[in-house]
Amino acid sequence: MNGLGTQPPGYAPGPPPARAEVPVLPSTAAARSELIRPLRGTVVEIGPGAGVNLHHFHRDVRWVGFEPDGGLHPAIRDEAARLGRQVDVRAGRAEELDLPDGGADAAVGTLVLCSVDDVTRSLAEVRRVLRPGGTYVFVEHVAAPRGTWTRRGQAVWSRLAPDGCQSDRETGLEILRAGFDDVRLERAAMPGPLGTRVPLILGRARR
Ligand SMILES: C[S@@+](CC[C@H](N)C(=O)[O-])C[C@H]1O[C@@H](n2cnc3c(N)ncnc32)[C@H](O)[C@@H]1O
Repeated sequence: MNGLGTQPPGYAPGPPPARAEVPVLPSTAAARSELIRPLRGTVVEIGPGAGVNLHHFHRDVRWVGFEPDGGLHPAIRDEAARLGRQVDVRAGRAEELDLPDGGADAAVGTLVLCSVDDVTRSLAEVRRVLRPGGTYVFVEHVAAPRGTWTRRGQAVWSRLAPDGCQSDRETGLEILRAGFDDVRLERAAMPGPLGTRVPLILGRARR
C-alpha cells in the first residue's frame, strides 16, 4: 500500500503488469488495516462475512454492515461484543442498500465484489449512499491476464465455486467506470494454489 497517497489518480486499463512487478502480500491484513483505520463517521460495509474487518475500524465509527447471509450475523455480533463495540447488522445486499442518498461517510468492501450478483449495481449503490467527498475503500481479488494459466483456472473455478465466487471478474475496470471522482488503485497479489498468484486490487475512491 505504500505510495497510494502519491500515486497519480487513475489506473491503466489493460493487462496487469508482469508477475514480478506487483508486490506479493502474505495476507491482506495490513492493507485492510491501512485503508480502514482512517475512516470516521457512519461507515457501511458490504458483505462483511463474519466481521473479520471489525477490529480495523476506529472505535467512534458507526458501523452498518449489509450481510445477506443471516447465518453469519451471530458471528458478527460475537466479534463486536468481543471488541466492545456497537454494530448495526442488516440482511441487505450490496445491490440494494437500505440507506438514504449521501447517508454514509465511507464504505468498505473486501473480497466481496467477486460474490455479488451485480457488480455495476453494487458500486452504483455504494456511490449513492456516500456523501459527496465520502470514501470507498476496497480490497478485491480480480482476473489474471487473459491467456495465463491462472486466468484459465479462475474461469473453471468461477463455474464450480460452491459459494458463487467469480474470481475472473475485471473488478478494477468496474470501479473505474462507476463514476467516482478520484480512484487510487494499486495492484498486488497473494500466493494462490499450485504456485499461482492471485491478483488483487486495493485502494480508495472518492464520491
Ligand atoms: C468471500 S466473503 C468475504 C467476507 C469478508 N468481507 C472478508 O473480507 O473476508 C464474501 C461475502 O460477501 C457476501 N455476499 C454475497 N453476495 C452479496 C451481496 N449481493 N451483497 C453483499 N454481500 C454479499 C457473502 O455472504 C460473504 O459474506
